Amino acid sequence: MSHSLLNAAYRHCCETLPDIRTYTIHGSFLDLPKLPMMVNPLRGRSRLFAMLGGTLLNLSDELRFFRDTLSCCEPDELFLFDLQSARAPASERQKILKMDPIGNGKLRPTHVNWLSGPIRRYCQGAEDIELRWELAPPGGVPGSYGFDAIARVKMRDGRPDRRFLMWRVRRYDPKLLSDSLAELGWKTIERIDYGPDGKKTLALMLLQKQ
Ligand SMILES: C[S@@+](CC[C@H](N)C(=O)[O-])C[C@H]1O[C@@H](n2cnc3c(N)ncnc32)[C@H](O)[C@@H]1O
Repeated sequence: MSHSLLNAAYRHCCETLPDIRTYTIHGSFLDLPKLPMMVNPLRGRSRLFAMLGGTLLNLSDELRFFRDTLSCCEPDELFLFDLQSARAPASERQKILKMDPIGNGKLRPTHVNWLSGPIRRYCQGAEDIELRWELAPPGGVPGSYGFDAIARVKMRDGRPDRRFLMWRVRRYDPKLLSDSLAELGWKTIERIDYGPDGKKTLALMLLQKQ
């Protein structure tokens, strides 16, 4: 999706692993099963799929992705991803608002600047932009909850206000996510909890297809 990230990754891979042939694909990971190299026989090789940098939350349905899109994987193949951990149980919405660092709705000034940029550039007639984190509707992977960065845009000339979803974050309960994925045939074989300031607010998980 991001051509510049893909180019940077390609250059890095060629420099770091010069003896390995590298291919890049500019496409959606939702279309993985349509890519010939994903379904061709593997001749005894096993693949490691990696989805880092909090990319998992870009899936609108994480469990269906593992069950359906990754049905092109063979037993023993690996999937590595990282996640942000839930700060409170998903069912306790008031507690989430209290415990989560973005539960107060405030975005960092740098994020406000970044996310309001496209609106300032492309939303003609925009007068004033207000950005806030809103707790997303309940649902999704058991134990998980999300926040949406919502922009409310006041328009000039009495036109109705507009509302845009600019960004999403999602926090997961690693144990409940791991249980849900195990039910779909993806067993957690390694989990590392880590994070800044000694707080383990992130987790790295390695799964193996059964
Ligand atoms: C949070 S960034 C992480 C990027 C990189 N993995 C890293 O760790 O720096 C998420 C990336 O996923 C890409 N992305 C989102 N949806 C995608 C899709 N359906 N197919 C492929 N890439 C997608 C975005 O364009 C973005 O580059």
